Amino acid sequence: MANDASNDAFVEFERVQKSYDGETLVVKDLNLTMPKGEFLTMLGPSGSGKTTCLMMLAGFEHATHGDIRLGGESINGIPPHKRGIGMVFQNYALFPHMTIAENLAFPLEVRKLGKSTREEKVMRALDMVEMGDFGGRRPAQLSGGQQQRVALARALVFEPELVLMDEPLGALDKQLREKMQFEITHLAHRLGITTVYVTHDQTEALTMSDRVAVFDDGRIQQLAPPDQLYESPENSFVAQFIGENNTLEGVVKEIKGKTCVVQLDDGEVLDAVPVNVSEVGERTRVSIRPERVEYNTDRLDPDAHTLNAEVLEFIYMGDIFRTRLRVAGNEDFVIKTRNAPDQVRLKPGQQIKIGWMAEDCRALDA
Ligand SMILES: Nc1ncnc2c1ncn2[C@@H]1O[C@H](COP(=O)(O)OP(=O)(O)O)[C@@H](O)[C@H]1O
Ligand SMILES: [Mg+2]
Repeated sequence: MANDASNDAFVEFERVQKSYDGETLVVKDLNLTMPKGEFLTMLGPSGSGKTTCLMMLAGFEHATHGDIRLGGESINGIPPHKRGIGMVFQNYALFPHMTIAENLAFPLEVRKLGKSTREEKVMRALDMVEMGDFGGRRPAQLSGGQQQRVALARALVFEPELVLMDEPLGALDKQLREKMQFEITHLAHRLGITTVYVTHDQTEALTMSDRVAVFDDGRIQQLAPPDQLYESPENSFVAQFIGENNTLEGVVKEIKGKTCVVQLDDGEVLDAVPVNVSEVGERTRVSIRPERVEYNTDRLDPDAHTLNAEVLEFIYMGDIFRTRLRVAGNEDFVIKTRNAPDQVRLKPGQQIKIGWMAEDCRALDA
């Protein structure tokens, strides 16, 4: 979706900073540009500044420095009722004393739409989230998932150009959450809505988004499409935060173009991609994804770097095997292998050889 959207910036954060107390910055020099129709997720640990960014974009909080623009116009200059922003929050409760249909009609009344237009739009929005038969009920008569669907319909009923969602699925159980993730992205893409979605759940971010902005400590650590984020993390924080990751610590011995030589703390020497290291002598954390490690010698590429490992734990997970190893002094080295008919099941205590390609091995900041 992001690829065929126009290059015109629809949402822009330019050098935005935010302090609540005039001392500590909770958002630090944030720059972000979104084209129309993009589904972007702000992902990060609690307290990293995600909600604050959303609140500033909604106009509920002011940026201490910098500018936020919507359709080229500074958000401060657009009166709230003309911002055309729909919002869904985890605890953004529906009005309990109103029926579902009345809840949905409310944003339309605020915008002074006539009765017949209101009724038509409410029906359409309810149908869209498959809640067409529930218009007459009150929120308390619906399940959590149904209420969340109604909240979504209410955010979309006035056809906003921009929808902001802050952990909207946090309160739902896993199965429903996964179903809703799918529904929300489909709906947003089908209607061409630009969406800023906030979550601390990395799976949710990876599966739903065109791009993900990984937040930590008030800064975007990396902004990239999900596959790039997972496969090419630019620093240790992102490598650790997104997906499962193996880390081996050492010192940079040599940098030559697209490869570097790292000496691990146990003496082992290996080649890696120098991603976030700049000089010889620097400490580094080398990052390798569990599924990029091979222990089946038949499948091992002749160019692969090999190390000795001891099997500490084997976990059968159905579709995959998750095996924990001791590698170069690290006892939390995890490898994941597909449950293929010819796949070897390792046993604790076994001494094995593992291998990987240098290009899957990233030298990051220590
Ligand atoms: N209204 C507020 N007043 C003062 N501090 C706040 C307020 N809202 C958030 N903060 C602080 O700002 C930081 C970022 O919070 P927040 O944006 O809610 O992070 P996130 O949504 O990523 O969990 C936190 O340290 C939080 O305590
Ligand atoms: Mg938050």
